[in-house]
Amino acid sequence: MLKFDIITVFPAYLEPLQLSLMGKAIEDGLISVSVKDLRDYTSDKHQTVDDSPYGGGPGMVMKPEPWGVALDEFSTAETILIIPTPSGKPFTQALATELSNAQHIVFACGRYEGIDSRVSEHYKTKIRVEEVSIGDYVLAGGEVAVLVMVEAIARLVPGVLGNQESFADDSFAVGAMENLLEGPVYTRPPIWRDLEVPQVLTSGDHAKISAWKHEQAKLRTAQNRPDLLG
Ligand code: 6GU
Repeated sequence: MLKFDIITVFPAYLEPLQLSLMGKAIEDGLISVSVKDLRDYTSDKHQTVDDSPYGGGPGMVMKPEPWGVALDEFSTAETILIIPTPSGKPFTQALATELSNAQHIVFACGRYEGIDSRVSEHYKTKIRVEEVSIGDYVLAGGEVAVLVMVEAIARLVPGVLGNQESFADDSFAVGAMENLLEGPVYTRPPIWRDLEVPQVLTSGDHAKISAWKHEQAKLRTAQNRPDLLG
């Protein structure tokens, strides 16, 4: 079972992970999700988690000591520590696929201007640590990025999606779709507001359907993500 531990100063941000597909996966014992409040690992009366940055500059930086106490408690040699940050490496479907095979993932959610860099430096000498970004924009903290990453990883864990569903056709799926966006999809009725479902999809010719889907994927990629076509 893949175990996620999420450390944050806003545990309520992670409540949506109890819903829908993730909630069912937890109930079915396929994954576990445990959310910890960083302030529980402070030792001063005011439960301080931040301080002003050395060298000046705007905002506040998260102090290393509470992170050290929390991460020492939660990490073992098998743990992968993910630090969400806009300055991290890109979170991709390939990384999600790799992480779906892990035993234990700890997410350290920074707020403010980020976490004192010595935290990642220290844990890199002990365990695998990845600083990861979900895209080229800046969020107010790592929590929303963790919602994104946990959902992307957990749906790849065997059994989490119903077995009639497959992720082989997904946009970015490792394999044939690696550098392609998934094309358009259709369901009943066969005509809606004068618009017909492409005839090939009702032909029953699976080789032709598969070739058509590949062609549509290439068209959509050229339209929306020409950078992926190289
Ligand atoms: Cl992982 N964190 C924050 N705070 N902002 C981001 C991000 C992560 N990825 C993109 N922007």
